[in-house]
Amino acid sequence: MSKTPHGAPLGAPPVMRRDERQRITLTLNGTERSGLCAPRELLSDFLRHELGATGTHVGCEHGVCGACTVRVDGVAARSCLMLAVQADGRAIDTVEGLAPREGLGDLQEAFRRHHALQCGFCTAGILMSCADYLERVPEPTEAQVRDMLSGHLCRCTGYTPIVAAVLDVAASRARLRRIAAPLAEEHCDA
Ligand code: FES
Ligand code: FES
Repeated sequence: MSKTPHGAPLGAPPVMRRDERQRITLTLNGTERSGLCAPRELLSDFLRHELGATGTHVGCEHGVCGACTVRVDGVAARSCLMLAVQADGRAIDTVEGLAPREGLGDLQEAFRRHHALQCGFCTAGILMSCADYLERVPEPTEAQVRDMLSGHLCRCTGYTPIVAAVLDVAASRARLRRIAAPLAEEHCDA
């Protein structure tokens, strides 16, 4: 019987060797990037070691601590619970993409203002969860923010300054929306 180069019968589903690396392409923070990964390589390792996006931290590698959180097609996800091959063709956002070309994003500024980080190991993951959450729940209560943060472990801050930073950003964005709304209406009427 004819065989594939891996020894499988022709027509059988494709089989990858354990040490074989496969090229995947994804959009990282708005830029198309491509790299090689092993079949069982975690997305967190691929981002850090193959693409050099070391802002994403790895703590427990069991989906518990939240340090590795990125956004996959806009939704916060643990990159240690996803294989790199599953990210092929998808949009991945990491903490490196949060800041504008110069300076810091508003969430990052608020974290700095409120001293919402100490060692900073948890910070990248928390920022990515907050970025996603505030888009879905733009004006959360303190209880909602605390509930969202329950998916993250921070050993340094006691969480209170993080909660203050998130609520501060939510309030400033709401103020900006209120200012922008009448201007947008005027623009439509003109
Ligand atoms: S490293 Fe992914 S959840 Fe802890
Ligand atoms: S700032 Fe150190 S773990 Fe959160």
